[in-house]
Amino acid sequence: MSDPETRKEAGPPPLLAVAGLDKSYPNGAERLTILREATFAVGTSESLAVVGPSGSGKSTLLNLLGLLDVPDRGSIRVEGREITLLSGDAAAAYRRDKTGFVFQDHHLLPQCTALENVLLPLLSDRSKTTAQDRDRARGLLDRVGIPEKENSFPDRLSGGERQRVAIARALIRDPLLLLCDEPTGNLDQTAGRRVVDLFLELVRERRMALVMVTHNLELAALLDRSLGLDDGRLRPVQTGGATTE
Ligand SMILES: Nc1ncnc2c1ncn2[C@@H]1O[C@H](COP(=O)(O)OP(=O)(O)O)[C@@H](O)[C@H]1O
Ligand SMILES: [Mg+2]
Repeated sequence: MSDPETRKEAGPPPLLAVAGLDKSYPNGAERLTILREATFAVGTSESLAVVGPSGSGKSTLLNLLGLLDVPDRGSIRVEGREITLLSGDAAAAYRRDKTGFVFQDHHLLPQCTALENVLLPLLSDRSKTTAQDRDRARGLLDRVGIPEKENSFPDRLSGGERQRVAIARALIRDPLLLLCDEPTGNLDQTAGRRVVDLFLELVRERRMALVMVTHNLELAALLDRSLGLDDGRLRPVQTGGATTE
């Protein structure tokens, strides 16, 4: 029982384990294949970058992980539980409670303050927030570095600040999986770097798994590993300084 492979098998399953995931879309009489046998795992407190050209299927992959779309074949396990079998309320509960999304465009509501935007996901299954919720939301705004902006509306925030509000909002329900689709796409390199550094700290502090789609190889290199998506296949890629497997 001392051989490392046996020990590995005996441990808990990785936070996220994807195996043999296929996805295609109808395209006239044919089907357009987007993913072929996508297979990877991301552990607790780990980060994975997915890089690839526009149209290569990066958003499709994140949507599958967030159960916003269904694969043709394959398995997605979160803490060992097969999530592709979930539907209806169970799928909605998974999305709401286990995943946090951050997009290129922050999708903040312009008529709500930063604090109100952070609180929004709590209103998906109840009608009111409590003083305790507001304290938590303030704590998150503090953690993402903009405690003084709680009463600001999105149009009074910089691009980086808006993205920090979106990050705090993604964290309010304590997700396991942080799914980020080009989260630095609208930021300059310095602001983008700060946001990625924040993601990496948060992933460790909160014991999440991060999957971040980007076409910025320099930023991808800051994550634990990078996979390139091309012609439907995921392959290890070398990003700048960091070698990846
Ligand atoms: N719902 C859909 N129906 C048909 N084709 C789609 C759908 N969603 C995405 N596609 C196609 O799948 C391919 C991959 O899209 P996407 O995942 O958005 O790529 P990326 O995020 O890498 O730019 C594109 O060719 C896109 O047009
Ligand atoms: Mg995309």
